[in-house]
Amino acid sequence: MTGSYPNTRLRRTRAHGWSRALHRETLVTPADLIWPLFVTSGKGVEEPIATLPGVSRWSVDGIVARAKEAVSLGIPVVALFPNTPRELRSDDGAEAHNPDNLMCQAIRAIKDAVGNDLGVLTDVALDPYTSHGQDGLVDDTGYVVNDATVAVLVDQAVNQANAGADVIAPSDMMDGRIHAIRMALEMNGHPNVQIMSYAAKYASAFYGPFRDAVGSGGLLKGDKKGYQMDPANADEAMREVALDIAEGADSVMVKPGLAYLDIIYRVKQRFDVPIFAYQVSGEYAMIEAAQAAGIGDRDALLMEKLVAFKRAGCAGVLTYYAPHAARLLNG
Ligand code: PBG
Repeated sequence: MTGSYPNTRLRRTRAHGWSRALHRETLVTPADLIWPLFVTSGKGVEEPIATLPGVSRWSVDGIVARAKEAVSLGIPVVALFPNTPRELRSDDGAEAHNPDNLMCQAIRAIKDAVGNDLGVLTDVALDPYTSHGQDGLVDDTGYVVNDATVAVLVDQAVNQANAGADVIAPSDMMDGRIHAIRMALEMNGHPNVQIMSYAAKYASAFYGPFRDAVGSGGLLKGDKKGYQMDPANADEAMREVALDIAEGADSVMVKPGLAYLDIIYRVKQRFDVPIFAYQVSGEYAMIEAAQAAGIGDRDALLMEKLVAFKRAGCAGVLTYYAPHAARLLNG
């Protein structure tokens, strides 16, 4: 209930910094951040990604250094994505099952170095491993087949869990994969490995720089509209989330973030489940472009967006800005 002017002057509580701090409804802390990292082969390698200024791929030793940095900054989780060497990519993405692939090497190295001081989240989808850049298996017509892909994703998830992954994050949008992965984790001795499902993942134009980062962009023919969601649909997102919760997801993700705040808000109102937003590569690159063009201030733009995710209902945010934001938040 709000009174009327001048009894009520909403500017009163805004007049001083101490008062704004006291009345602030939403807080962002480093513990809200998940840091996506790109793994590349070799030793002592850092490869800057042109379309993601300030973000690099790191060889496993560099990934371990980033993991230690995350711990020291208070970031609870890192998310791993591999840039699989071209010669190891194939039609069926078999490298995803190799227990010594880049992803598994990075998981083991992080766990050896920091143990349970840091969670390791791993992406499940075939696009970093396929020669065609699609997230699943493709038939003669170019269609990404569902059930055969799910069987392969299950093996990929178990392979990551065996290497020590703490959170499995399927980003492929196949139907039924959460249940299949949950059952396989239970049966393979991983009852406490979580699933964060990319539940509402849209076929978005904001993923371009990511595809450069994992080297799938140049390989991808066509698009992913046959499995990722239509940006026009919101009711359908509620069905995706409901199914993934029923199938055993511990938390759900909405992706991209900023253009889908309404989806985050609706999921939050409707389901009692932790929600995460992925501030995707294109969102990051737009802030960088605004900064470079003198259109806006990086830090202010970033903090405003992060608080928007939390205000909309997110428990946390995947962002390439995680270390930068954590430093700002830690003062
Ligand atoms: C692939 C995957 C994508 C992202 C995360 N996992 C790209 C895609 O679906 O093509 C995008 C992340 C980003 O843009 O930052 N399964």
